[in-house]
Amino acid sequence: MKSIVVTPRVQGSLKLMDMDIPQVGEKEVLLKVLKVGVCGTDRDIIAGFYGEAPEGSSYLVIGHESLCRIEEVGSGVDTFRKGELVVPTVRRNCPENCESCRNGMSDMCLTGHYKEHGIKQLHGFAREYAISDSGFVVKLPESLSDAGILLEPLTIVEKGISVSYAMQNSRLPWRPERAIVLGAGPVGLLATAVLRLKGLEVDTVATRPEDSLKARLAEQTGASYINAAKNPLATLESRYDLVLEVTGNVSVAVEAQKLARVNGIVSYLGIYKETTATEDAGKIFTDLVLGNRVYFGSVNANKKYFQAGVDDLIRIQQEWSGFLGKMITKRVRPEGLSEAYGPVGPDGIKNIIEF
Ligand code: BGC
Repeated sequence: MKSIVVTPRVQGSLKLMDMDIPQVGEKEVLLKVLKVGVCGTDRDIIAGFYGEAPEGSSYLVIGHESLCRIEEVGSGVDTFRKGELVVPTVRRNCPENCESCRNGMSDMCLTGHYKEHGIKQLHGFAREYAISDSGFVVKLPESLSDAGILLEPLTIVEKGISVSYAMQNSRLPWRPERAIVLGAGPVGLLATAVLRLKGLEVDTVATRPEDSLKARLAEQTGASYINAAKNPLATLESRYDLVLEVTGNVSVAVEAQKLARVNGIVSYLGIYKETTATEDAGKIFTDLVLGNRVYFGSVNANKKYFQAGVDDLIRIQQEWSGFLGKMITKRVRPEGLSEAYGPVGPDGIKNIIEF
């Protein structure tokens, strides 16, 4: 079967490889992969910055965003049937089975020895058939047989927003009115939609023009689009209850802190390159303390957020027809892998591969 692999840490090693269909274990499911999505993490792995092969393998099958159908179930699995539409989560428990992992929260693994499909020590889903532990698979309704490929990036948003609300509600009577989303790629647009579903006024910021697809999609949800190329972040007021930073850009991350109002919260969902910044650290910490602000980071998502994401994908489809489909701007067959993992293009948003 066709599989998309890299030699981790070797730039330019991306290739299509022929592999045997994996054997399903007792508690596992064999997945027929319909689609995989391409994100910044995949591009970082291909560029050689990131990624680890499974033990004993010299290569890693990439792909962690997927939409699949159950092909076969292991002898000990009675929760799935052949043909069901599903998405597997990305992260699996650490060998120590730490308290978080034991309790279904491998996204909060304490040892750092967790594994991630397509990223760290487990083959991913960019192949015709893949395997997952059946305990980490979520069912989707048939109405999501295309848009379901956006579930995994949406779960990153679900966790960031849900943790923000939980933290804020535990420390004050929180009535958020205004949010800002920094970035309007797939994660930024999904965050915009979820915050609009919650009834917040949302400003979504990116650098594309006002008539770009990103701007139009943000506006379809009732959010306002801010073109940062014309209105730099530094000119915006500190008036937001919730700030979501999803660009993964360090200078934007620094500006993000200044946008939170008193008692506000800033959620960082990007992955940043190491950089030495020249910022007034005293001011950053004084603003944090005197404004009762919270700045926090969030990575990965457990099954609870995948389930919340399924509900929100359905609600987004009902509220804003065509929104999810328009986010997928390039569909490529596995043979076109260099196009799939290349840039999204001038008005592009999300590339996917269809098997
Ligand atoms: C994935 C997460 C993963 C993170 C770090 C992201 O692109 O969506 O599931 O935990 O990369 O590896």
